Amino acid sequence: AGEQKETLGYYEGVADVYDDVAHLSFRIQYVDEVEARRGFVRLLGLQPHSRVLELACGTGRDSKIIAGELDATGQLYLQDISPAMLLQSRRKLSGVAVPVEFVVGNACFLPFPDRYFDAVFSFGGLGVFGDIAKSLKEVVRVSKVGAKVVAGDESMPPWLYETEYGKVLLNNNPLFKKAIPFEQIPVEAREVVVRWVVGGVYYLIEFVVGEGEPKADFDLEIPGKRGGTLRTRYYGGLEGVTPEAKQLAQRAREASGKSMHRWLDDVVREAAKRELNSPRGGDEKGDHDGE
Ligand SMILES: C[S@@+](CC[C@H](N)C(=O)[O-])C[C@H]1O[C@@H](n2cnc3c(N)ncnc32)[C@H](O)[C@@H]1O
Repeated sequence: AGEQKETLGYYEGVADVYDDVAHLSFRIQYVDEVEARRGFVRLLGLQPHSRVLELACGTGRDSKIIAGELDATGQLYLQDISPAMLLQSRRKLSGVAVPVEFVVGNACFLPFPDRYFDAVFSFGGLGVFGDIAKSLKEVVRVSKVGAKVVAGDESMPPWLYETEYGKVLLNNNPLFKKAIPFEQIPVEAREVVVRWVVGGVYYLIEFVVGEGEPKADFDLEIPGKRGGTLRTRYYGGLEGVTPEAKQLAQRAREASGKSMHRWLDDVVREAAKRELNSPRGGDEKGDHDGE
């Protein structure tokens, strides 16, 4: 919370001059800022009627480009923790065709319903959000399934730390030392692309919002001696047996022509049924767990 207060105080203080210097981070890298930002926004694949959320929009340097992709049937929500920065974006966006809502708030707590947006964008704020994982979770919550998310911030590739390029830039902006938040990418992210942009010292994470974890066929029978499926291999672990019993089982399996998983499954199933049907079936007396 202290860090957030400090960030807020900083941006409240620089809001009036932010636009005088923001282009320099791009110019230093010999990159045209507007061209670069257009490229980021293009990744959202917007339609004129899209409902778009931009987090940490600042003074609206990307917001203006996003608004240009939308018409009166679209909706643009601009959010920032700093009222002073947001005020600048409001000035910049006066007269655009798309209806715009300005929202003061923390990117970790989004005041929007589930599955509301077609696209979510954020550039330059992630590293100071306080809890990136929480913010990206919120982004997924408020995004429709199939929505596009593009988010990026400073991060220099580690192999450049010891170069002159790296040392000089890091000396000027320690935020370049922040790591790309790979572990904070939500499990719902699909078709994930992570790239470095702006001279290679900023990253962009791009993904499509899916539902839950990715799916794989855990029940596909795997051919061969061991056999089984990914599910039986993971969930079907048995208590250990003696080396002699294991050897006997391997010989019996070979004779049966079955895979080890199939043979074991049949044998255990049969033995369990037999036991349960015997006069003392289900009687747990004498079943001492020595652990
Ligand atoms: C470097 S500026 C980037 C502004 C703009 N996106 C751009 O590219 O020019 C970072 C912005 O993040 C905002 N910010 C920082 N922490 C935030 C948070 N937790 N929630 C929302 N905005 C935040 C700041 O107020 C500031 O406007």
